[in-house]
Amino acid sequence: MLITMPMTIENVKIGVINISDRASAGIYEDLPGKAAVTILKEFLSTPFDPVYRVIPDKQPQIEKELIQLSDFHKCCLIITTGGTGPAIRDVTPEATEAVCQKILPGFGELMRATSLQYVPTAILSRQTAGIRGNSLLLNLPGKPKAIRECLEAIFPAIPYCIDLIGGPYLQTNKGTIRTFRPQK
Ligand code: MTE
Repeated sequence: MLITMPMTIENVKIGVINISDRASAGIYEDLPGKAAVTILKEFLSTPFDPVYRVIPDKQPQIEKELIQLSDFHKCCLIITTGGTGPAIRDVTPEATEAVCQKILPGFGELMRATSLQYVPTAILSRQTAGIRGNSLLLNLPGKPKAIRECLEAIFPAIPYCIDLIGGPYLQTNKGTIRTFRPQK
């Protein structure tokens, strides 16, 4: 007799890590992480489960969470918010670079170029992006307004990047953001 196991189709998972000493200590409300999830829900028509974390600006802890969300939770996209500036405690880009196998400098370049149209202090952000396994890791600044400005600029390239690294085929809501996939 052939026994068939019921197949469970898992939702796409997207990691959101708010990196902030004060938010993780409960001094500030976690507005950046919530803003990132809201924007992703607005842009994506593909259903996804957010895997959500609020952690302090500690490089070993950031690296641990990035690795967990990539290797264990299999998030196709992992967004960090905060910790990209020049202050001594800002170590998000260092943690990201330490766990990635490939760096994609274009994301940081475009986010800074776009953000400079809004604020001259955009040059202070060292935000970067890279690949770990089948996950795209992206650094965003900590302000909700900056998160939207950056995501609007880079999002068109994100679904195709995730295709290229063996992730799920992400689709977006028409009228919110355009995506670009080159013709084969
Ligand atoms: N980018 C956009 N689009 N809008 C902003 O207001 N703020 C800048 C920069 N990038 C900003 C921005 C500032 S003031 C800083 S210090 C850096 O992001 C780093 O922010 P973070 O430490 O919260 O990551």
